[in-house]
Amino acid sequence: MKRIAVLTSGGDAPGMNAAVRAVVRTGLAKGWEVLGVKHGFTGLLADSFVSLGARDVGGIMQRGGTVLGSARCPEFKTPEGRAEAIRHLHQQDIEAVVVVGGDGSQAGAHALSQMGFPVVGVASTIDNDVHGSDVTIGFDTALNIALEAIDRLKVTASSHHRAFLVEVMGRKCGYLALMAAIAGGAEAVIIPERETDPDVVAAELREAYRRGKPHALVVVAEGARYNAEGLARHFRENRERLGFDLRVTTLGHVQRGGTPTAFDRLLGTRLGVAATDCLARGESGVLVGVLKDKTSATPLAEVVTNKKPLDPRLLELERVLAM
Ligand code: ADP
Ligand code: F6P
Repeated sequence: MKRIAVLTSGGDAPGMNAAVRAVVRTGLAKGWEVLGVKHGFTGLLADSFVSLGARDVGGIMQRGGTVLGSARCPEFKTPEGRAEAIRHLHQQDIEAVVVVGGDGSQAGAHALSQMGFPVVGVASTIDNDVHGSDVTIGFDTALNIALEAIDRLKVTASSHHRAFLVEVMGRKCGYLALMAAIAGGAEAVIIPERETDPDVVAAELREAYRRGKPHALVVVAEGARYNAEGLARHFRENRERLGFDLRVTTLGHVQRGGTPTAFDRLLGTRLGVAATDCLARGESGVLVGVLKDKTSATPLAEVVTNKKPLDPRLLELERVLAM
């Protein structure tokens, strides 16, 4: 191996920079040249490469986002788009690419790998929904940001005996919402994976007040059928019957832009190191992640054909702890 490239793709995640830094420095230590690709797969199509030395990745680990830039790139979903990307990779004498991103980006990594180009994926998304890694880069930081907001809302909710609704990110996956509800001590959680009747939520909140709670807090994932907007509307339209309003806070992209926690810096570093180690062993077509506390390599074919399920026991636990 002489020259490799690294890119970040999909929704940015705090800790991506630590992964890029680790790929660059461990790659250099192995005697390779390392190039960065600007703005994810878009940069492969646009022939947008930059040479990265050890100093170029200095001071980036503590920064949120990604210094390489990220993008959604629909053209990469077409064989013609990927063929163009491979043409540019060959022109640059690049022998392998490290793709740091979420499940969509890993589908892109797999598609590239199936066209014969060596790729190693690195599991990175605040959603923590990538099969092949128990935890993904960025999730811990996003969770901590959500918790800070929840803790503050509970203070004012308690002072006024109010009911609050906090919407967190997660279009298809409710893991962030569920963990925020458990660690934030919410009274209810609403996620895309489970149908929720808003009247049942209202009953749960009334019950919480009856048990003597000074506040009622619901965490909802943005992709749930009743997201913040839908739920607040339902409560508003049925105020007389349900008995109270819900005040809404939508956290949105605030969760994605934080300074990476120590956990995400270390996870990004571990997975960046694992990615170059894979390539040094001649291994590609895999995703590096953490399984049972150990770095692991899972075939991308397996990653893209499996969904990471939510553990139903966690949903049960959330109910019990909201007692
Ligand atoms: P994330 O990686 O955060 O899940 P996306 O789902 O938006 O983000 O995917 C990021 C990019 O990955 C897409 O814009 C596209 O370029 C690429 N991609 C996603 N799915 C595929 C696919 N099936 N084949 C090829 N490329 C894909
Ligand atoms: O996949 C990460 C994520 O932040 C999801 O939680 C969210 O649904 C989505 O990206 C938002 O995407 P965008 O930044 O394109 O609006």
